[in-house]
Amino acid sequence: MRDQLLQHIHDLGDDDLPAYLYDLRELREHAAAIRAALPERVQLLYAAKANSDPWLLDVLQHHVDGFEVASGGELRHVQATCPGTPIAFGGPGKTPAELAGALQAGVERLHIESEQELRLLAGLLGERTVDVLLRVNLPIALGPVALAMGGEPSPFGLDPTHLDSCLALIAAAPRIRLRGIHVHLASGLDATTHVDLAGQVLSWASDWSNEKGVELTEVNLGGGMGVDYGRPDQRFDWTGYGAGLRRLLERYPGLTLRIEPGRSVSVYCGWYVTEVLDIKRSHGHVFAVLRGGTHHLRTPATKQHDQPFVIVPVDTWDRPWERPQAQGEPMTLVGQLCTPKDVLARGVQVGRLRVRDRVAFALAGAYAWNISHHDFLMHPAPHFQHLDQVPVPAGSHP
Ligand SMILES: Cc1ncc(COP(=O)(O)O)c(C=O)c1O
Repeated sequence: MRDQLLQHIHDLGDDDLPAYLYDLRELREHAAAIRAALPERVQLLYAAKANSDPWLLDVLQHHVDGFEVASGGELRHVQATCPGTPIAFGGPGKTPAELAGALQAGVERLHIESEQELRLLAGLLGERTVDVLLRVNLPIALGPVALAMGGEPSPFGLDPTHLDSCLALIAAAPRIRLRGIHVHLASGLDATTHVDLAGQVLSWASDWSNEKGVELTEVNLGGGMGVDYGRPDQRFDWTGYGAGLRRLLERYPGLTLRIEPGRSVSVYCGWYVTEVLDIKRSHGHVFAVLRGGTHHLRTPATKQHDQPFVIVPVDTWDRPWERPQAQGEPMTLVGQLCTPKDVLARGVQVGRLRVRDRVAFALAGAYAWNISHHDFLMHPAPHFQHLDQVPVPAGSHP
């Protein structure tokens, strides 16, 4: 944690907690490093679903080639926040209204998930043209991954056996321009696995396009670059990934690659900061009860991990009784919800923890606040602060 951030956490008033802190300098530097590691022929999109906080999008628009959105809501939000930035619209179950909205908005790409979508699209086009990628669920064996979304039966993308009928639908609707294919098969992949996957996808795509006489100009390799919550310092090897893609591209002149990572881009800039409300012992185990919990930061509950954290000691104690504390024993950090699932870190070794000490959870910049069940128990929402930026306007949070 950098000094400025630590100082900021110290300086937060009690009433500011819990708070999400977004370190925009960290985000800016990280995004610039990712861009620099990628070959020119790789376009970088940010998957807004990971975190569509307006200030994050504002920083990222200067480092990416566009945003990937997965709903009409995300589309409208991203367009309003970063007007003019190219948008690719993907995701299953697009409604007729969402498709019409995407055409109206002039999205740069539509990622087609099914024949039904193509049929709806053809009926909505009128005089407009649209560039599409077919999202394919390729039969590629992935091995153990954090979250598989393809390579096995799945509601995402097209089974390869349905591609011929898609090509027929496109041939009958000349205003639908097929640019290539899209593949997002899994999340949590390391760089070597991701390059290997890219090699398999490109080989399949080039064989398929040759066989079908399709001009293939673009392949979107999706997101899913891994984030190791157990070892926050071990980041995805963007340099190795970029070098691997550069080698692959030599074999495919004229092809543009696209990637659309979310988690691995924004996760590191976010911190969820709170304080210890109570320390209790129960049947020999220590529990630290924190202000807030998984209704603000659901990531550890969904991913079943211990969210990494740093303790920021607060030395003042003005109560007339002894300060509750625990030291040198494993403890479980829980929130304020009435459910045993409200666990942020389980059985972790902590030096010393006292009531009122602050706890700053790291890696809270992706799939954190925006995937949490905010209204459960009606506790107040956290505050949001953006370091290296002017305060966020009231009411502008999605
Ligand atoms: C189609 C698609 N693209 C990109 C992403 C972003 O993945 P990640 O945040 O793991 O990089 C997802 C995540 O679910 C996705 O479904």
